[in-house]
Amino acid sequence: MSLFGNIISSVKAGSQSSNGVVGIDIGSSSIKVIELHEQKGVITLATYGEIQLGPYVGKSNGESVSLEAKQEQVALVDVIRESAVKARQGVFAMPLSSSFVTNVSIQADPDADLAALVRIEARKVIPASLSEVTLDWAEVEITKKESKTTEANQRNVLIASIQNVALERFKVLMQFVGLTKPPTEIECFSTIRGLYDSDEDDIAIVDIGAVSSKLYIARKGLLMRMYRIRAGGVIATQKIAEALGTDFETAEETKCSINKQASNFSEVKRAHDQSYERAFREFSQVIREYENKTGITISTVYLSGGGALFPGIDSQLKSVLDREVLPANPFSKVAYPAFMEDTMKEIGPSFAVALGAALRAFE
Ligand SMILES: Nc1ncnc2c1ncn2[C@@H]1O[C@H](COP(=O)(O)OP(=O)(O)OP(=O)(O)O)[C@@H](O)[C@H]1O
Ligand SMILES: [Mg+2]
Repeated sequence: MSLFGNIISSVKAGSQSSNGVVGIDIGSSSIKVIELHEQKGVITLATYGEIQLGPYVGKSNGESVSLEAKQEQVALVDVIRESAVKARQGVFAMPLSSSFVTNVSIQADPDADLAALVRIEARKVIPASLSEVTLDWAEVEITKKESKTTEANQRNVLIASIQNVALERFKVLMQFVGLTKPPTEIECFSTIRGLYDSDEDDIAIVDIGAVSSKLYIARKGLLMRMYRIRAGGVIATQKIAEALGTDFETAEETKCSINKQASNFSEVKRAHDQSYERAFREFSQVIREYENKTGITISTVYLSGGGALFPGIDSQLKSVLDREVLPANPFSKVAYPAFMEDTMKEIGPSFAVALGAALRAFE
């Protein structure tokens, strides 16, 4: 059974549509939900919400947690209630931490059984036994430059897998909140859907979360490269706490509320920026390698995730990547009241995953 369109999906992958859909993003520090409705053919924002997970286990906001199933259920029920989500249809974005996504090149004649070759390759690259994961794959196009420089019969394949225990756990969680059989996809595919714009074929997205930062390179809405590194908001807060001599909670509050005019901004920024130096350099290298191999130029990089909200982080990334960096604005894909414009732009980066997941139901 091919699971294409189940855990991997492209912007164009078809799916069912209905009237209220909730996109759910369970991150390591918070859950984000977005409900969309279709009104006279226009996809409209119905409601959205975010709930911090730290307090469910006696930790502060912004801390990364691993919740027990029961606590996770309570948190999800809370955020659904507090944001007044009514939809009975949902799309769930599976965290990358329970998944494995990679691109491989496979030598295969045009009439070879590609599926069988993919399984052999998957066995080598996936850090788990194939019996423990749900596997999905898709062939991706080879660019002109690649076809000149690579051997004949090379096929590029995107391999994605999710741990079965994680799938099972989330299935139970979704049933608990009354969403039966929501489509599940890995968060990278939701993010790309949330930000893909057909005006621009080749984009990169940097998602700065609490625990990790991810780089996605996408072509026409399909994931071409994925790179994940352990550097995120938690480490930034720890560095700020060290620099200011405060506890985590105070440093987190400072980080999330500071502006460029604050007297201690440069001190906070120095500690903050240090936490991302290595990650950004590695992202730069991955983008350059991709460009050299494919002959494609990535001109725009979208910055998403809660970590994208720190003042000036876009300039820091821009100077390392040496290309345009724009804050992600996934709400531009949906209609909402004009008075919400500023808020939507401000919080947009945090909701790219949840919004992209919800959009899946309208394709
Ligand atoms: N205004 C802000 N300024 C700076 N950082 C912020 C702001 N708001 C949130 N953050 C940081 O963003 C991080 C959370 O981002 P996000 O919600 O994208 O993570 P997550 O999805 O829970 O984690 P992950 O993707 O790693 O699983 C936290 O470290 C938080 O401190
Ligand atoms: Mg996240």
